[in-house]
Amino acid sequence: MRMHLSAIAALASAGAASAAISNGGLKILAPGGDNLWWLVGMGNNIVWTCGESTFSQFTVSINNSDISLLTDIQAIISQEQNFNCDQLVTPNDVNVPVGDGYTIVLADPLNGTNVYAVSDPFSVKPVSVGYPPASATPSDPGAATIAKPTGSGSGSVVGATGAATGSGSAAPQKTGAGMRLSAGVAAAALGVAAVTLSLL
Ligand SMILES: *[C@@H]1O[C@H](CO)[C@@H](O)[C@H](O)[C@H]1NC(C)=O
Ligand SMILES: *[C@@H]1O[C@H](CO)[C@@H](O)[C@H](O)[C@H]1NC(C)=O
Repeated sequence: MRMHLSAIAALASAGAASAAISNGGLKILAPGGDNLWWLVGMGNNIVWTCGESTFSQFTVSINNSDISLLTDIQAIISQEQNFNCDQLVTPNDVNVPVGDGYTIVLADPLNGTNVYAVSDPFSVKPVSVGYPPASATPSDPGAATIAKPTGSGSGSVVGATGAATGSGSAAPQKTGAGMRLSAGVAAAALGVAAVTLSLL
């Protein structure tokens, strides 16, 4: 019994360090935590462990317990394909105010009660802060080996490092201007092309 209790205590303290939830190998790598924030009104990336995930698709939502920032959990993408490995979301997809305590939620497209993964809380910051450096996003060792359907391109990996290059200010800004990205394969390929262009 004592060992059991101390095991629970250890779990509780581990939980305190990270509020994130991960199931079936699916973990949100970005955003989340103090070092991986979003910029208000800009294109922002979501990156997950596609190489380890046992889920082939999921919904993407944003949540916050602070109802002055977000009154309820809000769907961003109704059906995201795991093989994309990352997703650029634009202000057309989601536009939440500057603030703290946001989380990204990945869930079963057929039943939102089945939550697959929740990110660590993250902030939405003013544009003047700039994007976090690309090096802040942990890389997914399995991403390089994931099978992508023909036509989806290999470039979706760009998004995983596309948050910044060099000085840390480069970002998929232009994509945010007019492009509507959805979870479709064609749209994902287009998004990657746009990100690549904006980085050139
Ligand atoms: C969304 O946030 C609310 C308020 O904190 C919480 O009750 C709910 O469990 C969250 N939903 C998910 C799927 O994390
Ligand atoms: C959704 O999933 C929950 C938890 O697994 C389950 O209790 C519920 O019955 C499911 N709802 C539907 C409509 O399948």
